[in-house]
Amino acid sequence: MFHQYYPGSKSGESVFTVDPRPIKFGPGSADETAHDAAQMGLQRVVVFTDPKVLNLELTRQVIHSLRRRGIEVELYAECLVEPTDASFLQATDFLRRHPGDGVISIGGGSVIDTAKAANLYARYPAELLTYVNKPIGAGQPVPGPLAPHIALPTTAGTGSESTGVAVFDLLSQQVKTGIASKYLKPDLAIIDPRFTYSVPPLVTAATAFDVLTHAIESYTAQRFSDRDKADDPALRPPYQGANPHSDIGSLEAIRLGGRYLLRAVRDPRDEEARIAMSWAATLAGIAFGNAGVHVPHAMSYSVAGLIRDYHPPGWPEEHSLCPHGISVVVNAPAAFAFTAQACADRHLEAAGALGIDTRDADANDGGTLLVEKMSELMRLSGIPNGLEALGYGSADIPALVEGAAAQTRLLRQSPRPVSKADLEGLYRSAMRYW
Ligand SMILES: NC(=O)c1ccc[n+]([C@@H]2O[C@H](COP(=O)([O-])OP(=O)(O)OC[C@H]3O[C@@H](n4cnc5c(N)ncnc54)[C@H](O)[C@@H]3O)[C@@H](O)[C@H]2O)c1
Ligand SMILES: [Fe+2]
Repeated sequence: MFHQYYPGSKSGESVFTVDPRPIKFGPGSADETAHDAAQMGLQRVVVFTDPKVLNLELTRQVIHSLRRRGIEVELYAECLVEPTDASFLQATDFLRRHPGDGVISIGGGSVIDTAKAANLYARYPAELLTYVNKPIGAGQPVPGPLAPHIALPTTAGTGSESTGVAVFDLLSQQVKTGIASKYLKPDLAIIDPRFTYSVPPLVTAATAFDVLTHAIESYTAQRFSDRDKADDPALRPPYQGANPHSDIGSLEAIRLGGRYLLRAVRDPRDEEARIAMSWAATLAGIAFGNAGVHVPHAMSYSVAGLIRDYHPPGWPEEHSLCPHGISVVVNAPAAFAFTAQACADRHLEAAGALGIDTRDADANDGGTLLVEKMSELMRLSGIPNGLEALGYGSADIPALVEGAAAQTRLLRQSPRPVSKADLEGLYRSAMRYW
């Protein structure tokens, strides 16, 4: 693995950073939340969740255990699934009116991201776009630490419990974007896979493909040593590119996905598969939080932002939405066929980790093998067959391209430069796969 990074060129970066936060993992870990909150000195917390997660037995037990321990709890159960600028502001307003000394998020990425944003804007009030990534926002750095945050993920997907990212839909521009700062990383992630046992099949599939794409994108991202050396360590980007640390988690997460994804989708009570997918999500979250994701995620933000009339089973039905995992994976086969032309060997390794026998394969087959396997897994787990199945047609391509082209922070991570013309071709290829 090391020969792929060292020795690099003289002008290339030779240093990478790993900046982890503590993680507690395993069935039963949620029962220790009150203990951990007390250890952190918390006396009055705001618990963020969504209406569905609030009704889970385990969520109620966590809240009860906090109160039993003498920790005061204010409850905000209005987090929007697939949050927006408006829903971030609503959550911020609640936190301002009910200040505590810490926040606890119990939910999927939607809830954890909402808690991160509320925690940020409650402490450092500003126009919403102030800290949002350029070019959509002003990209100002988050000024400093936030109130302590304990995150309990209830899906095996985003890895948000250990990333410094909060993603939302900017309604006025119909595009998803985000805020990125190390200060957004939760101070403790408690990953109890028992939460995921109640996740419905298509949500399981969508979140599992979020895990797989995080891992494959991190593994195939531009190498950190291909960037110019940072003159000032403060200017080293949080998304550093593939590196020896992210490679370990990425490859293991791909391997676990290849072995357990279909089992978790087909039998919600398959505890071995559920625990394995939670661990894969954790590893992939740490890996992509440090290496970065690229083309499938960059393309996903307009796919989600421009959705017109799509109501997938398993998500709230009040408003049309394209779940994050689906908006990403529908682009993945097209995108990996494109990026494989820059680093076929890494795509081949990813295909091998997914379970394909690659012993007799040529490195140049990497893209084809990976794309075939991804498409097969998507088909077998009920993922929509490309953009057409989400209601898009060729007339939508210019708007999809505009949205993706604005995700410069992610596109920069691609192992191969991506032009607007490339994006147009990629969306065309992503219309239908089988
Ligand atoms: N911050 C990051 O690093 C990061 C990374 C990737 C994605 N995201 C963002 O995270 C969001 C998606 O999060 P997600 O995929 O985890 O799903 P989610 O939080 O949107 O939840 C999906 C659905 O599953 C339900 N649900 C959650 N846990 C459940 C459980 N245990 N049992 C039954 N139902 C349950 C929710 O109520 C919701 O209806 C998107 O907004 C996406 O952009 C963030
Ligand atoms: Fe993702």
